[in-house]
Amino acid sequence: MRSKSAIILWVIIVLMVVTGIGFLVASKQDVVVPAGATVKQAEEFEDFYRDKVPQKYDMWQHSAHGENGVTCINCHGEENLSDEELEYGNFNVVTPEKCGECHEHEYKGWQDTRHVEAVEYSQKNVRYKLLDGYHAMQQQGCNSCHDKVGNTCTSCHQGHTTALPKPEQMAAPHETVTNNFTNGCENCHMGPDHPQREAYQSSVHYQVAQATGQPTCVICHTDPDNRHKIIQLKGENEEEGRKKLRENCLNCHTKQYVDNAMATVDSIKKETNRIVDEARKIIQGLYADGIMEPNPGSLLDENGIPMLNAKGTSYSHVSHIENLMFELFKYAGATTIKGAQHFAPDYTHWHGNADLWNKYLAIKEEAERLRMEAKVREKLEIEKEEYPMFKYTNETGQELNDLK
Ligand code: HEC
Ligand code: HEC
Ligand code: HEC
Ligand code: HEC
Ligand code: HEC
Ligand code: HEC
Ligand code: HEC
Repeated sequence: MRSKSAIILWVIIVLMVVTGIGFLVASKQDVVVPAGATVKQAEEFEDFYRDKVPQKYDMWQHSAHGENGVTCINCHGEENLSDEELEYGNFNVVTPEKCGECHEHEYKGWQDTRHVEAVEYSQKNVRYKLLDGYHAMQQQGCNSCHDKVGNTCTSCHQGHTTALPKPEQMAAPHETVTNNFTNGCENCHMGPDHPQREAYQSSVHYQVAQATGQPTCVICHTDPDNRHKIIQLKGENEEEGRKKLRENCLNCHTKQYVDNAMATVDSIKKETNRIVDEARKIIQGLYADGIMEPNPGSLLDENGIPMLNAKGTSYSHVSHIENLMFELFKYAGATTIKGAQHFAPDYTHWHGNADLWNKYLAIKEEAERLRMEAKVREKLEIEKEEYPMFKYTNETGQELNDLK
């Protein structure tokens, strides 16, 4: 009797010791440290910041990273970890490559989007260069969208909460509920020049998504095998991309329905661009007839005529009629097309097509007025009074050719 209970006791003791060691081993392995760093260093970094940025610390601790042992130094680097240097964590440059070390699939998808070219699109643009004397505006007014999406994973995610930019209905039970039908795209894809957020949110699809979690931006716009690979719709991959995008509709609609819907989109796009072109011709006629000189806010084509398009025209450093042209193509035209692409009748028609006509008629009237004014001046020999253009305090004063 006695020996039997002794054996049971021993078995229990041995089991307790083994599981205890098991727990210790598991908790050590749970801390993911980068090559060359130690668990001790990781803990030091955490300790140093626990009280300095308590809420940020808390966000991290309750994120998928905090819960899975991914700690500060995994993202902020193990270099500079001597005691005195703890505060020089590599804070603002957590690159996509860094995140990609652990999330290769997402990194590969992200790399295959046109977002990686976004920095170049903005910094080569005439509007960016005209702001050379106004760096704070370049920073907050262009880089906060273009640099961010081109250089970080945190354009849609945040650094310390890992809440996923997807709707409640699609989120797995352990994930943070975000109710985000616009998938984190909304901070950038909005406003008068590209109102995808507003258009989508006033479409039938948004109502459907509120009920079912789909379709969201990501459901329509990405490759089902990699939700980070946004199908390219511009440039050399345009044709292939447009076909792929339509395939995503076929999970919910018949081919006939989709073809009909997209035919109206294409036709609205074509007619909108035709109206924009007509307005452009009216203004280009004014330069040709010497009624107006090109202003510094426009790039010139090879014949010395302002291009008056998205690449080469600003809202600043131009005349009133050129400014109306900017609003015509950049706001009204874009809204009509992007509204139609997202099946939002109010954006397509009232914010879009109606405003397109407002601007077209205003340009037409202004051109007639400028022609008449030129004739009157000539007849009465009146000199035109020129007001100097407002200059930013430290404007570089670049010449037109430098803008190219
Ligand atoms: C998954 C990667 C990741 C982890 C883990 C992480 N961070 Fe960050 N951290 C970032 C990113 C990305 C930024 C840049 C700002 C942003 O996008 O939120 C950042 C910015 C910062 C900043 C500078 C910005 C500010 O608000 O002052 C501090 C400080 C910081 N992190 C501290 C910490 C601390 C402390 C820990 C650990 C408790 C930690 N981070 C863990 C990714 C991470
Ligand atoms: C050292 C490896 C490592 C690094 C570096 C890292 N992560 Fe993670 N990440 C993980 C692990 C582990 C998890 C949790 C397990 C999982 O969901 O795969 C995770 C989970 C996530 C999740 C999913 C959250 C969820 O609720 O399912 C997101 C989003 C994420 N990481 C984004 C990022 C971003 C953005 C960066 C860079 C700023 C980054 N990670 C850097 C290892 C890492
Ligand atoms: C609110 C975020 C945001 C700001 C601020 C912003 N952009 Fe953009 N920009 C976008 C988005 C989103 C697109 C893509 C629109 C689309 O494809 O419908 C875009 C498109 C462009 C394009 C066209 C790229 C192409 O596909 O050919 C240029 C050029 C551009 N932006 C330049 C600038 C410049 C220059 C500034 C500052 C003066 C600026 N943007 C400010 C978000 C922004
Ligand atoms: C353009 C927006 C956007 C950018 C940029 C972005 N993500 Fe995401 N990410 C998302 C969305 C949306 C989801 C949720 C996808 C879904 O619905 O399944 C997600 C999900 C994730 C997940 C969880 C995957 C899963 O299967 O649950 C990880 C990990 C992640 N992203 C990492 C990254 C990394 C690393 C980068 C940078 C290389 C990055 N993301 C850049 C939008 C983005
Ligand atoms: C129901 C599917 C669907 C949803 C949801 C959706 N889109 Fe689109 N999107 C489209 C279609 C269709 C086009 C036009 C494709 C074409 O012209 O062939 C488009 C075009 C675009 C373009 C390119 C614009 C251009 O000038 O060519 C951008 C950028 C875009 N969408 C962003 C978004 C964003 C951001 C969201 C979420 C707020 C979103 N979309 C939601 C279907 C969708
Ligand atoms: C931080 C800002 C930002 C966020 C967030 C963002 N984008 Fe963009 N997006 C841009 C800018 C800027 C451009 C234009 C530059 C370019 O085309 O390279 C762009 C271009 C695009 C284009 C047109 C380019 C192409 O491939 O044809 C699509 C489609 C697009 N984004 C979809 C999305 C979707 C879907 C999301 C969310 C999952 C998203 N974007 C989130 C800034 C952003
Ligand atoms: C996740 C499912 C889903 C996806 C993906 C989807 N749709 Fe829809 N769509 C719906 C539902 C549901 C409705 C509401 C009417 C119905 O039940 O058919 C709808 C309505 C529409 C309407 C009518 C809009 C109105 O104002 O009445 C059009 C047009 C349309 N979708 C086109 C498209 C196109 C084009 C795509 C792909 C770019 C697409 N849809 C992708 C589910 C979807």
